Amino acid sequence: MDSIVVKGNGALNGQIPIAGAKNACLTLMPATLLSDEPLTLTNAPRLSDIATMTQLLESLGAEVSSLDDGHVIVLSSHKADNPVAHYDIVRKMRASNLVLGPLLARHGQATVSLPGGCAIGARPMDIHTDALTAMGAEIKLKDGYLHAVAPKGLQGAVIDFPFASVGATENIMMAATLAKGTTVINNAAREPEIVDLADCLRKMGAQIDGDGTSSITIQGVDRLHGATHPVVTDRIELGTYMLAPAIAGGEVELLGGRMDLVAAFAEKLDLAGIDVSETANGLKVKRRGDLINAVDVVTEPFPGFPTDLQAQMMALLCTANGVSVLEEKIFENRFMHAPELIRMGANIDVQGGHATVTGVDRLKGAPVMATDLRASVSLILAGLAAEGETVISRVYHLDRGYEHVVAKLRGVGAKIERIKQNG
Ligand code: UD1
Repeated sequence: MDSIVVKGNGALNGQIPIAGAKNACLTLMPATLLSDEPLTLTNAPRLSDIATMTQLLESLGAEVSSLDDGHVIVLSSHKADNPVAHYDIVRKMRASNLVLGPLLARHGQATVSLPGGCAIGARPMDIHTDALTAMGAEIKLKDGYLHAVAPKGLQGAVIDFPFASVGATENIMMAATLAKGTTVINNAAREPEIVDLADCLRKMGAQIDGDGTSSITIQGVDRLHGATHPVVTDRIELGTYMLAPAIAGGEVELLGGRMDLVAAFAEKLDLAGIDVSETANGLKVKRRGDLINAVDVVTEPFPGFPTDLQAQMMALLCTANGVSVLEEKIFENRFMHAPELIRMGANIDVQGGHATVTGVDRLKGAPVMATDLRASVSLILAGLAAEGETVISRVYHLDRGYEHVVAKLRGVGAKIERIKQNG
């Protein structure tokens, strides 16, 4: 199994191109099930999670081909006749649950395995299933599978989410495009990936209003047609690489970066002493002085500080001047990176949903590993400014969400390489 070796070697300078969003692509791909005509996604990232979604859609009978080294995906569902999403594939990735709404809308029935345990918390599906039930579906849990049927088809309904779940908003929005009548989702999630999905569905002929606000209205239509859609920029990849010069020093331009995608995050960087400015081609990031200021962070649904950047932000705050408190409000168990950062010399105390980080002068390289995607990349970031060598194992987590991570960081001067691990 491969590992990544990082040597802290000072300032980073240059440009990093930002890819299309993994999380947007993972919800755009199942939209193919809503139409018999082809859906073409451009600006797609080449990642193992995208390969998993491809495998899942193919198992449902869809045809998926990739062009331009995986950056264009063409999906066609005219032969998709299987409404069963098997555990073997679903267990690899929670986003597999995004086929539930489209399958039910297409076939009037769907059998989808529950994703099972996940390293960052329980992550149930009650918000998805309650909403589909309100739309006329009958859903039973049997042998680890959700068995959903909508004998009279799905009907529009007014749905009040107890929490602004990203996945549930996407699932219900897709299901509602072909339901009879009008669906209103109150307390909907407002993430940019939801606006991107709504844009794509509108190109396919859907009638959707209010995406990007907490109340989305979908007027069901009889059929959707084909479309071509570019995947929105990955704001989490963007934020991750914004932290590279923040941690190591120097000045890096993030090509394709957009301030509106990372406003709450950029605000915290500013408080920490990092300048973020807009350029003609994206965003530029530069540390103002030698010291990083301690800042407190609370993760929240968009437009708040994203949980998917919490681990990376912690890597920055490990060497801040003072004490920072990070509060995780989205996932109950999302501090697995803390013990690894402690191995690198960080001073972190985790109590429930709070992590108190007392800044130290410098981190020291160490062998580390992480059990999720964002945690893994936080260890690379920490390694960029650590004294000596950091060896990160379980690299497959990174392959789920970061395309060419080694090449992108080498391009701005980082000493980083991917090696075959012995044994
Ligand atoms: C998506 C993102 C993930 C991100 C998360 C929060 C994708 C593929 N993944 O995940 O990277 O970290 O949003 O921004 O887009 N919940 C319930 N019941 C439900 C659904 C969710 O209790 O039916 C809870 C979850 O356990 C969790 C919280 O709501 O604590 C957030 O989940 P949700 O917004 O649904 O995240 P995902 O769509 O799974």
